[in-house]
Amino acid sequence: MEEHSSIDRERMHVIDQQTVRIEDVFQVEDLILDLGGGGEGVIGQLRGRQVIAIDRRRAELEESAPGPIKIIGDAMDLPFLDGSFDAATAFFFLMYVPGDDRLAVLKEAHRTLKPGGQLHIWDVTIPERDDHPQETFVVLIKAELPDRTVETGYGTRWDGKDMSADSIGALATEAGFSVVEQAEEGDCFRLVLTKEGK
Ligand SMILES: C[S@@+](CC[C@H](N)C(=O)[O-])C[C@H]1O[C@@H](n2cnc3c(N)ncnc32)[C@H](O)[C@@H]1O
Repeated sequence: MEEHSSIDRERMHVIDQQTVRIEDVFQVEDLILDLGGGGEGVIGQLRGRQVIAIDRRRAELEESAPGPIKIIGDAMDLPFLDGSFDAATAFFFLMYVPGDDRLAVLKEAHRTLKPGGQLHIWDVTIPERDDHPQETFVVLIKAELPDRTVETGYGTRWDGKDMSADSIGALATEAGFSVVEQAEEGDCFRLVLTKEGK
C-alpha cells in the first residue's frame, strides 16, 4: 500500500479523516471476493474466512489481518470462473487503479459474480490533479465496523486517478451492472452494483 505514516503536506494532498460506517450488509452465506484486499484488509476483518482477498502485491496480503483466504493476483484478470461469487467488494481499491484500467476491473468483477450478485464499493472522490503541486492524493479513514474501528490512511499517485460516484457508476453500467445504491458522505462515496439476471 502506498501508505504514509508521516504526512508531508507539500508532497501530499490530504483529505482529512472521513468516517466510513460499514454495516454488515452482505446477505450472503457463501464466499465474498474482496478486490485489492491487502493492506488493512477491512472486509476480511468484517467477514473473516468467508472472504477471498485478492491483491497483486504479496506484501500487502502478508500484512493484512489473518482470516481470509489470500490470493496474489490481478483484478484485471481474475483467476476465477464466470459466476463464482454472490458478492464482491472494493474497499478503497479503485483509487489505486488508473482511470484507464477501471472498466477492465469492473468487467472482471461482473464476469465472476453470479447473476443477482452484487459489487459493493466504498471509495473517495478524487478531483483532477490539474496544477496541484502534490503528486500523491491521500485520504485518512476511520472505518467503523460493528465490533471495531480501523484508522488508516490510503495514498495513491494522483495523475489519472480522478473519479466520483457518478463516473464510477457510469463505468459500472458500461461493464454491465445496474447501480442500485449510490450515496455520498463527505468526500467518500458508496455504490452497490447488481449483476442482473437472477
Ligand atoms: C491499499 S489497498 C486498499 C484498501 C484495502 N482494501 C483495505 O481494506 O485496507 C489497495 C490495494 O490494491 C492493490 N492493487 C492495486 N491494483 C491492483 C490490481 N490491478 N489487482 C489487484 N490488486 C491491486 C494494491 O496492491 C493495494 O494493496
